[in-house]
Amino acid sequence: MRFMLPNLANITPQLSYQYQQDNCAVLYFEQTQLKQLAQQYGTPLFVYSTQHIADSLSIYNQGLANHKHGIYYSVKVNSNIHILSLLHSLGAKFDVVSKGELQRVMYVGVAAKNCVFAGVGKTQDELLFAIQNDIGCINVESASELYRISELAQSINKIAPISLRINPNIDPKTHPYISTGLQENKFGILTKEAYELYQWAHGQPNLEIKGISCHIGSQLLDLSPLLQAAERVVEFAQSLQEIGIEIEHVDFGGGIGISYQQDESEKIAQLDWQNYFSNLTRIVPKDIAIHIEPGRSIVGNGGVLLTQVQYLKKQGELDFAIVDAAMNDLIRPALYQADHQVVELQQHVNDSVASKKFTVVGPVCETSDFLARDKELKIREGDYLAMLSAGAYSFCMSSNYNSRLRAAEVLISGEKNTLIRKRETFENMIANERIT
Ligand code: LLP
Repeated sequence: MRFMLPNLANITPQLSYQYQQDNCAVLYFEQTQLKQLAQQYGTPLFVYSTQHIADSLSIYNQGLANHKHGIYYSVKVNSNIHILSLLHSLGAKFDVVSKGELQRVMYVGVAAKNCVFAGVGKTQDELLFAIQNDIGCINVESASELYRISELAQSINKIAPISLRINPNIDPKTHPYISTGLQENKFGILTKEAYELYQWAHGQPNLEIKGISCHIGSQLLDLSPLLQAAERVVEFAQSLQEIGIEIEHVDFGGGIGISYQQDESEKIAQLDWQNYFSNLTRIVPKDIAIHIEPGRSIVGNGGVLLTQVQYLKKQGELDFAIVDAAMNDLIRPALYQADHQVVELQQHVNDSVASKKFTVVGPVCETSDFLARDKELKIREGDYLAMLSAGAYSFCMSSNYNSRLRAAEVLISGEKNTLIRKRETFENMIANERIT
């Protein structure tokens, strides 16, 4: 018996069900069968698609092809060194927010001059490390940071390349925890103050003004606030040019959203990237380079988290599927009420397994430890599930809470797979602890 298989292509084009025998269909990521992968490496397991990452990066490169540009992948989003190395080989540059991230990209062979250093709280040690290694640009977030950079550069006889991150006071219309471009957020510098600071910086022998940056938020499903912010940044650049301060680049940060569920995927399908790129290249004068710092839109839909159902439990009105992944592996549902699509790795076609609405939870001792709610699934104990859209802000936000070992990560390419992070061991977990 054949039946209609769910179509996941509008979330992740590389995911598809294929019939194995007449009564079952299994999920493939590119040409790799995910259930086999789950059995080979164990669960929880993150799996990423090379094809997806390469395709997503090239959308940006093509969109900006007619303008001087730099794509600075935002390392915080997925910082596995293999992923960084892949993106480096595809020509990406990097946006880092800590010394650790800068060290990661340098470790894979990226010169610091191909990185921008962002973040509101850079320490003296981090700034010195960046300046000493000839960082491409420091995106400065406050007057105090600017003065500190100038002093540090002077102390080691270097010239620090800078850009001020302006806060354009624009509502990105996204989750409040990931909105960054409003006056009440801790990020950036309001334009009036930034104007004065640029004038001050212009007179400093150890500072070199490179650009202006901004980033208004993440998971934007409407691109008009990004274009509004771009207009403000360019107007601001022109006001600086009028007083003799030249700008080499404008950096618009990241922010373009991805689909986590079917209804979002309709909004994503309506996102007019072509219109966005053509407006961006129209707004920015030809002699000023466009830098962007995308993250989620490069890797987000290119990853899945595989997990195995341990127990099915009925409690009152609810059917719980208790799985072996938890909030320590994927904190987004608990932290932002994020709704990731959950699908079976194997579709049962015959009716021996009933379809029910499940709340998918992990084993962590907290009620907030849920991965998904209200999901129609046809599952038995021992079956495997995939949480979709788990390439971004997923593994990198994981922890050892409840002394759970961090998951393994695999990168696939066609039918080949590579283990890019071994599953953590008990010894790894306690390596830095001491009994005195
Ligand atoms: N540039 C800056 C300065 C940023 O702060 C961010 C993200 C990016 C670029 C990349 O933005 P994207 O293209 O990924 O939207 N953990 C949250 C998201 C935090 C966003 C932090 N900043 C989540 O899981 O939704």
